[in-house]
Amino acid sequence: MTNKINSLRGMPDFYPEDIISWTPVENKLEEIFNSYSINEIRTPIMEYTDLYKRSVGDTSDIVNKEIYSFNDRNDQSLSLRPEGTAGVIRSIIEKKLDQQQSKFWYMGPMFRYERPQKGRYRQFHQAGIELLGFEEGKADFELISMICSIINGLKIKNTTLKINHLGDKQSKQDFAKELVSFLSSYKDQMDEKDLERLNTNPLRILDTKDHNIQEILKSGPSLKDFIPNSANELLENIQSTFGDLCNIEIDNNLVRGLDYYTGLVFEATSSDLGAQDAFLGGGRYDILSEMLGGKDMPAIGLAIGLERIISIATISPSNKKKVAFITSTSNIAPLAFKIANQLRSANSEISLDMDLTESSIKAKLRRANKTNASHVFILGDEEINNNLIIVKYLREDVEQTNVSLKELIELYKEI
Ligand code: HAM
Repeated sequence: MTNKINSLRGMPDFYPEDIISWTPVENKLEEIFNSYSINEIRTPIMEYTDLYKRSVGDTSDIVNKEIYSFNDRNDQSLSLRPEGTAGVIRSIIEKKLDQQQSKFWYMGPMFRYERPQKGRYRQFHQAGIELLGFEEGKADFELISMICSIINGLKIKNTTLKINHLGDKQSKQDFAKELVSFLSSYKDQMDEKDLERLNTNPLRILDTKDHNIQEILKSGPSLKDFIPNSANELLENIQSTFGDLCNIEIDNNLVRGLDYYTGLVFEATSSDLGAQDAFLGGGRYDILSEMLGGKDMPAIGLAIGLERIISIATISPSNKKKVAFITSTSNIAPLAFKIANQLRSANSEISLDMDLTESSIKAKLRRANKTNASHVFILGDEEINNNLIIVKYLREDVEQTNVSLKELIELYKEI
């Protein structure tokens, strides 16, 4: 016997019973994006590996350890996208849109070679927003406002939106230098991961999971003292403006795992999630366009982890109306397909399940009942001869009737 082929680890399939909870969330997100006057963009899921090295950063975990890269037939190194921002910026530079303002949203699969666990996959999905060409200030408020709309629109409970400011390039450098010098006398207490961070991307140490280092950091330099006053004011202003809409915390230890961030950064978590509790993250990345060879273009954006947000969204799935159509003829009864076609055109809101089996009428009715259909339409030889169709009501206490096609279409519009 031939061996069967399995799916890749961390890359699940999605069946109708899974997708039923995805659609309302995706629809609601689209509705919110539209209400903020943001347009959709679609970029490829594969790019040159260099794009991610230069943007997300080749010292970041994402590029260093998690990227899916391979050489194509032309020996060029390509990668599956680990996130959406770099591709969007690559695209707008290419289209010479890096000198104007644009607002985009996107949704789709992303790929990271992480250790799979609950809430963490190798193929996962993000919905993202990028506000391009806007200086620090108004766009930051607009984006935080949108985060609160998302949290409230999807009825997500027990959330914290942590915000921080990384300052500008200079203050980031000054702080990193001070941090490295402070930590140099604690190197012997650091694990391999933190030591590596100290060498490559020292700010990431603020994100350490090591309790001892967390304690040591408390007496170290604070980012708060390095960033300009205007940055601290921005954080406080955001908190006081939106604090009544969603729970906002200023966290001076919040740093993000991607290299391109410059000013405001944020991350939303919910205690209803497990260990992987961040369902949204993002920030300002004013240097990315130039890093990728474009013009100087300020920008800010976010991405939502769809698997995670869907598991905690408490909006109910939409209940599509269902009917079943069965034939009791000995042959195929092409007329049934013609009628079903007309019905579907008359009211596309209803899902009409055409029975395609060869089973007995009893089995067909049982199946229709199981699908939660409200009505069954039955066409047999006798009905065909008399130009009639039987309508059976499954959820109402109404006698079954025989109707003409015209009457059936009228009834179908009203279901
Ligand atoms: P990120 O924080 O790397 O940011 O990812 C955003 C969200 O994607 C996370 O908060 C999480 O919910 C979800 N996520 C990340 N990795 C996984 C995984 N392996 N499995 C399931 N969900 C995951 C970005 O990607 C930036 N591009 C956000 C951004 C947009 N910044 C500016 N613009």
